[in-house]
Amino acid sequence: MKSFIVLASLAACTLAQRLHIAGPTAGQTVGANSYFTAELQMDNTLSSMSQKSVLIALTACYDVCSQPAQWGPGTVLYNGTFNPQYNVSAPQKGLYQDFRLQLPEGWPSGESVLSVAHQFTVGASEIPVFDYTTVHFNVTDPENPEN
Ligand SMILES: *[C@@H]1O[C@H](CO)[C@@H](O)[C@H](O)[C@H]1NC(C)=O
Ligand SMILES: *[C@@H]1O[C@H](CO)[C@@H](O)[C@H](O)[C@H]1NC(C)=O
Ligand SMILES: *[C@@H]1O[C@H](CO)[C@@H](O)[C@H](O)[C@H]1NC(C)=O
Repeated sequence: MKSFIVLASLAACTLAQRLHIAGPTAGQTVGANSYFTAELQMDNTLSSMSQKSVLIALTACYDVCSQPAQWGPGTVLYNGTFNPQYNVSAPQKGLYQDFRLQLPEGWPSGESVLSVAHQFTVGASEIPVFDYTTVHFNVTDPENPEN
């Protein structure tokens, strides 16, 4: 019972510190083959929280975007350390980090899902915690914007 309460309060506290994908925004359009910025923001932080890593992956979801179980495997665009910083020129953003990423060549136009898997630890005993966030955005073919 005690461990349940500890887990529940741990879950509540990690939920309050979730990572947000501030960019691309839902519904944003990114041109095929172009660069875009994935901006990952932390709402809040505790000194006992230690950032570890993020994995950013992209999945073209075609006509099954509302059914994650049917998505194909994602393409990993970044897998490495996460070190969000406070920017004095943009204090409203809190702690964040920008990742400049490129759509893989030949990426299909239409809806795509950016997924971020985030691993970090909380507390002096470094309990490992994981969270997962996604955003849907649109890829357009600049030579054929109707597609
Ligand atoms: C992507 O574009 C299509 C067609 O314009 C639109 O129906 C859809 O809602 C868009 N998806 C997102 C996530 O905005
Ligand atoms: C991401 O990086 C970690 C640590 O280097 C590695 O163990 C893992 O296999 C990588 N995952 C993918 C999907 O590349
Ligand atoms: C801080 O924010 C300013 C204004 O948005 C931006 O121009 C600058 O590149 C940012 N610095 C870093 C290190 O991200």
